[in-house]
Amino acid sequence: MSDLAQLENEILADIAAAADEAALEAVRVAALGKNGTVTALLKTLGTLPPERRKSEGPLINGMKDRVNAALAARREIFKTAALEARLNTESIDVTLPVREAPAEIGRVHPITQVIDELTAIFADMGFAVAEGPDIETDDYNFGKLNFPEEHPARAMHDTFFFDPKPDGTRLLLRTHTSPVQVRTMLTQKPPIRVIIPGRTYRCDSDQTHTPMFHQVEGLVIDKGSHLGHMKWILEEFFKAFFEVDRVGMRFRPSFFPFTEPSLEVDIQCRRDKGEIRFGEGEDWMEILGAGMVHPNVLRNCGLDPDQYQGFAWGMGIDRITMLKYGMPDLRAFFEADVRWLSHYGFRPLDWPTLAAGLSPP
Ligand code: DAH
Repeated sequence: MSDLAQLENEILADIAAAADEAALEAVRVAALGKNGTVTALLKTLGTLPPERRKSEGPLINGMKDRVNAALAARREIFKTAALEARLNTESIDVTLPVREAPAEIGRVHPITQVIDELTAIFADMGFAVAEGPDIETDDYNFGKLNFPEEHPARAMHDTFFFDPKPDGTRLLLRTHTSPVQVRTMLTQKPPIRVIIPGRTYRCDSDQTHTPMFHQVEGLVIDKGSHLGHMKWILEEFFKAFFEVDRVGMRFRPSFFPFTEPSLEVDIQCRRDKGEIRFGEGEDWMEILGAGMVHPNVLRNCGLDPDQYQGFAWGMGIDRITMLKYGMPDLRAFFEADVRWLSHYGFRPLDWPTLAAGLSPP
């Protein structure tokens, strides 16, 4: 075998043996690089006499072409192998379950849902939503609402007080949403029609009481607003909220410092093996406190009681939520247990409207 043929065989064997791109590149440099074996041969061509150049030139160039072709073929093999390896590791098993989108997993808390529902109902009747701070002054929570100083009703509310300030006044966590009545009357001119949903606080905790709970207040002030209007509004509300055609209601005399007369409202229900149905039956359930806004409260809020009058009511949101959606334990509402929430919570995109239905199917 000629030296040329032997060199070619060696190079081709090295190409075949190269395990990866780097090894292959080393073989290429050794043969065709600046100081490569084939390059050295090509350089000798120039020194040869013309007739030898004629015979050897094609031999050496032919060898160079075959080496180049072998290098390209080997490179192609590496490329295919790399692609195949990538395809194998990046394959998708289409039979695997699809992971749910965050909007599908998240749940709306029942309290939030019910606040949205009752806002939709009252908005349909022309009510706006008013809000106030959870931390209130003694004056707004009690004073302007006609609670006399040292009145036992203040103690009745089991108030969480903050430490007194140097001037002797002390802030508190509002015990009801009624202080927002005051804030509304101080800043808006009648006619006023607002509902006030929000958090309220009392130092009380057992199976039916939590230290933080929710109320929704209603306030209507105009020149001729009276309890007949309120009765209609509440009746329409309960029918829409509990999704029934009829709601029996009963008004009983009561006492609140900020209303005169004051009353408590019961709605008719039937208790059936732990289930409660509304609008029928022979039982009554106390559901809210209400009354005509006391002239002193109007006066305290800058309104002339000879010109304006109105009514207000306050209702526990947690309770009506438990009643509507059959939740047995109030305390679970505030334990932040995702298992409870995924069971009782509402899908985030099922926004309650009167047109499309209040509660999700
Ligand atoms: N604020 C009262 C409470 O928390 C509830 C209430 C009663 C609100 C009568 C009212 C009302 O607006 O008129 O016990």
